[in-house]
Amino acid sequence: MATIKLVIGNWKMNPQTWDDAKRISRKMRSFARRLRTTSVVICPPLPFLPAARFKLQPETFHLGAQSASVDESGAHTGEVTARMLASLDVEYVIAGHSEERAAGDTDEMVSQRIARILEAGLVPVVCVGEMTREESGAHLEFLRRQITASLAGIPADKARRIILAYEPIWAIGAKEAMKPEDIYEMSLFVKKAFADLFGTEAGLKVRVLYGGSVHAKNAADIMKIGKVDGLLVGRESVNPPGFLDLLKAVDTA
Ligand code: PGA
Repeated sequence: MATIKLVIGNWKMNPQTWDDAKRISRKMRSFARRLRTTSVVICPPLPFLPAARFKLQPETFHLGAQSASVDESGAHTGEVTARMLASLDVEYVIAGHSEERAAGDTDEMVSQRIARILEAGLVPVVCVGEMTREESGAHLEFLRRQITASLAGIPADKARRIILAYEPIWAIGAKEAMKPEDIYEMSLFVKKAFADLFGTEAGLKVRVLYGGSVHAKNAADIMKIGKVDGLLVGRESVNPPGFLDLLKAVDTA
């Protein structure tokens, strides 16, 4: 059987109503039935998680969340724990998205979030990426340090569940994605950094996704030339026609 590719849709703070969330997730669930080599994960805003949860769910359709608290419980107004998410059938949780990092998340907080997500039995999707690309190669050192610090303290046996999402910040919400050839090079770099922390075998097995301005037209090349294990999609993930075309492109890539 072909390896399962993963497409994660991060809806961010969209759409604005329950009805729209229900409509969009229904379309995605029905389409997921046709997927042969790909699984789709949708990450709606928290209040809409139940709208995206169905009794009958194809194996290729999963629920994710956009973040989880660094804490396990207690007086933290507005926060949600990974265990709460697990009780809603969430399976994947994004940690360290650049928008959260920009709002103040440190590498240390990201590693705490990852620890809570793992403890709840869920899969952390850890976002990493440089702000700019330097000719001197300084961005590589930045990325290596970010990966090391974000994964600090995670035990090697648990690290096997981690998925890494390489998202160069300059390519998020941009006009164009990174070139597939460069994505390939960077995904190898990310795997190597992971291997340095958790061993060669873990580095060979870890799944690396690419994110940043992915759409139906560039998805297949990013998968084939970029040789990544999947995609983390923002804007296009709440646009059903574009997202379904993107899924089709990945499934046949
Ligand atoms: P984008 O967002 O697809 O809209 O560029 C990607 C992301 O933030 O993960």
